Amino acid sequence: MTIQAYRSCVAHCLADPGDDQDSDNVEIFPDGVLIVEDGRVADLGPAERLLPTLGPDCEVHDFSDNMILPGMVDCHIHYPQTDIIASYGTQLLDWLNTYTFPFEAKFADLDYARETARFFVEELLRNGTTTALVFATVHAHSVDALFEEASKHDLCIAAGKVLMDRHCPENLRDTAEQGYRESRDLIERWHRQGRNHYAITPRFAPTSTLEQLQLAGQLASEYPDVMIQTHLAENRSEVDWALSLFPDSESYLGIYKDAGLLRERSVFAHCIHLDDHDHQEMAAHDASIAFCPTSNLFLGSGLFDLATARSHGIRVGLGTDVGGGTSFSQFATLAEAYKVLQLQGQSLNSGRGLYLATLGGAQALHLDDKIGNLQLGKDADFIVLDLDSTALLERRMAHSTSVHDRLFAQFTMADDRAILSTYVKGKRCFQQA
Ligand code: GUN
Ligand code: ZN
Repeated sequence: MTIQAYRSCVAHCLADPGDDQDSDNVEIFPDGVLIVEDGRVADLGPAERLLPTLGPDCEVHDFSDNMILPGMVDCHIHYPQTDIIASYGTQLLDWLNTYTFPFEAKFADLDYARETARFFVEELLRNGTTTALVFATVHAHSVDALFEEASKHDLCIAAGKVLMDRHCPENLRDTAEQGYRESRDLIERWHRQGRNHYAITPRFAPTSTLEQLQLAGQLASEYPDVMIQTHLAENRSEVDWALSLFPDSESYLGIYKDAGLLRERSVFAHCIHLDDHDHQEMAAHDASIAFCPTSNLFLGSGLFDLATARSHGIRVGLGTDVGGGTSFSQFATLAEAYKVLQLQGQSLNSGRGLYLATLGGAQALHLDDKIGNLQLGKDADFIVLDLDSTALLERRMAHSTSVHDRLFAQFTMADDRAILSTYVKGKRCFQQA
C-alpha cells in the first residue's frame, strides 16, 4: 500500500458555485495537503492538520509554489481531427466536406489510427485533461486504437464509432445494420473495461437515415448505462438541413427524441439554436450539453446561452471540440467561454469556470461518483499548475492577492505550458520537460 502526500494550494468544487464568487461550493486550501492511497484520494485538508498525521514512510511532495486542481474534463472532442485543427475559412458544412471527411478517411489505416491515438492521448495529458468524451471515426478499429492507448495510462475515456450512412463520402459510410452491430460489439469489448466507457455516436441527424437513428436508439435501450453523443443545433444551415430531412419531427432535438436518443447520459454538443421547448425537453430527459466556445467562435456558429441552459437545470460541461475547436486546453476553452458569455451580458467567475472544467463536466457525463473533484474516495486525477508559466503570467501573479484572482487570470491566459504535471489515479502520467 503506497501513500503519497502533495503539499500545495489546492482548489476544487463541491457543487456548482453559481454566480457567487465566494460560494462555499468552491473549497480552497491555501496551504493544503492532498493524500493519495492506491490511486484514490485518502484525505484533503489544511497542511497544519494533516502533516502531523503522516507516517514516516509517506513521501511528501512539495508544490507550495504551485496550485493543485482536479484533472480537467473534456465533454466533446474528435481525436481523428487532431491533424486538421486550425484549418482556414469555412463554416460547419463546408468545413466537414473540405477538411474533416478527407482526414477521417485516413483512419481506414489502423497504423495511422494508432499513431494519432498515441499523440492525442499524450496531448490530453499535456493539457491536464484526465477525462474525455471522444468521437472516433466510422471505422470500428479507430475506437480500439483509442481505448488501447488510453488504457496504457488508465485514462478515463468515453468514445464511440461514428454512425454515418448517408450524405458523406462513400468510403466513410456504414449501413444502419452494420453500425448497430459494430457498436454493439465495441460495447461488449470495451464498456466498463477498466476506465473505458462506450458512447453510441451518430455523427448528427443529417448523416444518418431514420433507420440508422432508430437502431442506435434500440441499442441505447439495450444498454442503458452507455453514453450517447452527437451534435445538435450548432449552425443555422445545419439546423435547416436537419429539419428538411426529418419533416415529421417537431424540432431538431425532436429527431433524436423520436429515435430514442434523448435520455440520461445523452451528451449533445453545441446546442446554440434551441428554443424554450427544446430546453424543457432536455431538462425533462436529464440530457447534457457540451459547451464548445472555441469551436463556436472559430466556425462562426454562434453564442451558447449558458444562463438559459442553467435556468432549466440542464447539465452542462465544457468541450474543446478539436478540430473545429482551436485548442486542447481547457484554459483556452474557459477564456473563450468567458468572452462568449460577456457578449450576451452573462459572466463566468473563477469558481464557476473551475466547476465547468471539472465537476460540471463530470456531472454532464454522470461520472461524478468517481471524478470531478478531490473528495475522499474519488479517483486521484489531478494537475499541478505552474502559475508563472509565461513572463506575463509571472508579472500578473506577482501582484495577485487572492486564489480566485489567480485562477481567473490562469483561465484567461494559461495554456499547456502551465501544466507542470498530470496525475491519473495517483500516477504521474505527464511531467513538463
Ligand atoms: N457536426 C457534425 N459533425 C461535426 C464535426 O465533426 N464537428 C463539429 N463541430 N460539428 C459537427
Ligand atoms: Zn464536434
